[in-house]
Amino acid sequence: MSCNVAIVGATGAVGAEFLIQLEQRRFPFTSLKLLASDRSAGKKLRCAGKEYTVEALRPDSFKGVNIALFSASTAIAKEYAPIARDAGAVVIDNSSAFRLESDVPLVVPEINPDAARRHKGIIANPNCTTIVALMAVGPLHKVSKITRLIISSYQAISGAGAEAMAELEQQTRDWVAGRPLKVETQPQQILFNLYPHIDVFTDNGYTKEEMKLTFEGRKILDHPTLKAAATCVRVPVMRCHSVSINVEFERKIAPDEARSILGKSSGVEVFDNPAKAEYPTPLRYTQKEKVGVGRIREDISSDRGGLALWSVGDQLAKGAAQNAVQIAELLIKRR
Ligand code: A2P
Repeated sequence: MSCNVAIVGATGAVGAEFLIQLEQRRFPFTSLKLLASDRSAGKKLRCAGKEYTVEALRPDSFKGVNIALFSASTAIAKEYAPIARDAGAVVIDNSSAFRLESDVPLVVPEINPDAARRHKGIIANPNCTTIVALMAVGPLHKVSKITRLIISSYQAISGAGAEAMAELEQQTRDWVAGRPLKVETQPQQILFNLYPHIDVFTDNGYTKEEMKLTFEGRKILDHPTLKAAATCVRVPVMRCHSVSINVEFERKIAPDEARSILGKSSGVEVFDNPAKAEYPTPLRYTQKEKVGVGRIREDISSDRGGLALWSVGDQLAKGAAQNAVQIAELLIKRR
């Protein structure tokens, strides 16, 4: 059975991770088409031991494509995902363009794999911070419904794309050389700094990034009344998001019960031995398939016996490309 795959945005940070994930997960593609802007046409990239030439994205790029992995901007997804779908491909889109549309499944394969079955040609990959947070609380929600969810995130610069990652590296080199630091792609200097400003601010004072947890969380957990609030912070970390979580449930879940549930959950590693300084960190979970959960303890501020947890996942992998390739795996299992 043939499976012709295209990657839109193949030269970007998530695009590069798509190539790694397809190779590492031995995704059985028959052909691979790499698409990016005109600037990148002709560039050579490797995947699974073969060299591929990047092509400029065009409306006729999707002929014969079965699965189109999108990792470009929301604007490009809005323009080209319907074109790819109409050409016969199933689109798995990493942008926020379609996530909240009622006929577009929003899928974390470990949490709501069945939703992928209901696609009409486009499946959305959730926001990276939402994935890292829900990997920790989704398995608990299956045991006792979440009544309130509060998160504070510590988000890597990779979430802002390849140019932003290069900006952090350049600021580091400039600082070492005693040169003035340039701030070009980000709202603030990222080196030696952090800022509570990811995506744009909305009328309620939250950023769009923060509201994604509420809206996407409701859809993925199939919990339309979920009360969730986030503060999302960019930190000078290269590619792993960390999330501090406070969560309450209909029925209290004790820390030991949470450890036991999460210990049996697919895609999660409980790494929770603070006495030995063992808790998830961005460096430990860089390029790891699993999301690490630790610091599992009672939320002593909660009247309802809530939990406090700490969850860390690779933004480019589980937060983006890996999750999308896992969705593609669900699709080919069904073909
Ligand atoms: P290019 O490298 O040619 O600009 P990131 O999120 O890491 O910044 O990556 C964005 C991805 O989206 C890159 O692969 C980029 O390609 C691609 N992209 C940007 N603009 C376009 C466009 N107009 N058409 C197709 N791909 C685009």
